[in-house]
Amino acid sequence: MAEENKLMEKIVSLTKRRGFIFQGSEIYGGVGGIYDLGPLGVELANNIKAAWWKNIVQERDNVVGLDSAILMNKQVWHASGHVDSFADPLIECKNCHTRYREDAIQQTVKGLTCPNCGKSNWTPPRMFNLMFKTHIGPVENEASETFLRPETAQGIFVNFGNVVDTMRVKLPFGIAQIGKGFRNEITIGNFLFRVREFEMMELEYFTYLKQADKDFEYWQKERMNWFVSLGIDKKNLRFREHADDERAHYAVRSVDIEYDWPFAQAQGKPGWLELEGIANRTDYDLKQHAKESGKDLSYFDEETKEKIVPYVIEPSLGVGRAMLAFLIDAYHEDGDRVVLKLKPELTPYKAAVFPLLANKPELVKLAQKIYLELKTSDLGLIAWDDRGNIGKRYYSQDEIGTPFCATIDFQSLEDQTVTIRDRDSMKQDRVKVNKLSSVLKEKLRY
Ligand code: GAP
Repeated sequence: MAEENKLMEKIVSLTKRRGFIFQGSEIYGGVGGIYDLGPLGVELANNIKAAWWKNIVQERDNVVGLDSAILMNKQVWHASGHVDSFADPLIECKNCHTRYREDAIQQTVKGLTCPNCGKSNWTPPRMFNLMFKTHIGPVENEASETFLRPETAQGIFVNFGNVVDTMRVKLPFGIAQIGKGFRNEITIGNFLFRVREFEMMELEYFTYLKQADKDFEYWQKERMNWFVSLGIDKKNLRFREHADDERAHYAVRSVDIEYDWPFAQAQGKPGWLELEGIANRTDYDLKQHAKESGKDLSYFDEETKEKIVPYVIEPSLGVGRAMLAFLIDAYHEDGDRVVLKLKPELTPYKAAVFPLLANKPELVKLAQKIYLELKTSDLGLIAWDDRGNIGKRYYSQDEIGTPFCATIDFQSLEDQTVTIRDRDSMKQDRVKVNKLSSVLKEKLRY
């Protein structure tokens, strides 16, 4: 147990110390369940999103993208069922008045005793809606009230007709979106795992009823393969089918891709918890919006000459939750060396450039020239470091996952070669300066 606790502590500390993740509004004491991405965190998140977009939209000929607004007409949330059903059971400890999600308390080792005060005197559970309320415009009344979206999916459903009319898409086809979601979670915690503001990557894959089961299986496999292709160890991932009483109000089938999270193990629970959810949402959302808006949201099938309302298969993943899984899986210790063995596709920096000695102007000058050339050669972000000794610089880059470090030494001045050191093997090769960017491109190929 202690080991898993330590691993999470180390990851939280590394991500803070190295500029990946900061507590939101930290100087004012923070806000529960809100985090900010630092300079390296925003790179990692952008790389995760780019890898998802490439796999889901760019490499397929039947998926298109969308970026719908966060604020929507309040009727959307009535029609979708979120106003009535997007709620968790809340219980309050009558002794210390701390509030919890009832199912979360039941899963703890302590059973139904309050984790805060140890007493067992609860209010009966009541359903607590997780949507944040806000108002649109200067008047705060019921008419101007709406909600921050708890999922991006509804923006896709309400634009279904627009996409069909403008893009000549044919069933089966998908609409993908990456954007912020907000949930006023009762119980937060475990770092990025359960937060109140997060980015989501969602695909709504519209298909024929008769093909829905097959497409569900297809997306399960595709999504599992995506995590493995980006470096997550297969043994830390599994599928779990939802029981009938677990599913969201819109789903007839849900399967989670679960990850073996160390924080859960440290709390005495099995580590397996949701990383991504895949749901069969049926024709529920489109039918609801057609009914409530009075607009026809059916699809005209050219082959059968019939109007149908498609079924929807939805893989949905939080960017922060994915980031946490990638970080945990990539974290390695090798003696006193900490290495983030992230796939190069995901690393914040693609390479680092060092002059061997910072007080030798001729070395610094050549290193600066190489650094600027690499920065403008489409490799991605390049780091510069001239502090301390070379060993410390390597370790510093290993800790943030930089796959390659190029060092400019005295031999570089004579024969125009530099060393490239590989993060994982720690082997060094000498390459010609004028070949450096093409060699790195080849090595980084993904
Ligand atoms: N549109 C489907 C949907 O919203 P969900 O299972 O509630 O489904 C999808 O959420 C994914 O979003 C989850 O698998 C998880 O990766 C992420 N997610 C959900 N709630 C989260 C939270 N409070 N904090 C961080 N990530 C969250």
